[in-house]
Amino acid sequence: MTEIINPEDGFTCKLNAMSVEVHILSDIHVGAKKFHKKLLLSAVERIKRKRNARVILNGDLFDNTIPGGPYSARDQYEQRMEQQVIQARDLLFPIRKKILFARSGNHDSRTQKRAEFNSMIIFCDMMGIPYYDGPGFTRINVTGKTMVLAGGHGKSGSQNGNLELERYRRIYDADVYYLGHNHQLFANPVPGLYLGSDGKEHLKEQWLIRAGSFLRYADYAREGAYQPQRCGWPTIHLGPEGITCTVRST
Ligand SMILES: [Fe+2]
Repeated sequence: MTEIINPEDGFTCKLNAMSVEVHILSDIHVGAKKFHKKLLLSAVERIKRKRNARVILNGDLFDNTIPGGPYSARDQYEQRMEQQVIQARDLLFPIRKKILFARSGNHDSRTQKRAEFNSMIIFCDMMGIPYYDGPGFTRINVTGKTMVLAGGHGKSGSQNGNLELERYRRIYDADVYYLGHNHQLFANPVPGLYLGSDGKEHLKEQWLIRAGSFLRYADYAREGAYQPQRCGWPTIHLGPEGITCTVRST
């Protein structure tokens, strides 16, 4: 049985290296008609090549549009749930050793809510990766540097993706805040000041990230007149110069 990470315990990753890049792969939506498979393959290729790359799977890995659910099932996805799980395994298998953990999104949770069947735990077990049971902290250590991430899949449908991130910022003391769910894609620094041990003030940046998606403009989004979003994913870099975040998009 795969390891279940309790959010109260957090998750720590230590790398024997000077730097790391953490890729947040969120809202992949394997099985959806508008799943951007080519983009995911390009992400996997990049991550495979980078020795110090690590990955967080941040929910909605599967489209999992269930019969009787909020959207008519066959309109939205073209694969049955078991095919979605197998395709996700096949696509992500080459980078499985770099995946820190996976957590569920609202789409993945549908079968759990309906039938007490957590498809993400089954996927984690197939891949040999831990399952993070909710939002919470992740600490990443490299030689001489540490960063603390606070994130989750997200729940808010607000047009302003910063509002939910600011709620996390009020709760968690972290360097980087990341959320998926609304498929917005940005990584913005928020500069602030802190008092150093030298008695002087210094600049410190926190980062607010919405983690994008691998789903093109889906029918439900078009019908609901949701804002189209760029597909892509963010990467958090930690090295001797500190933390920087970038996004890659189509
Ligand atoms: Fe999603």
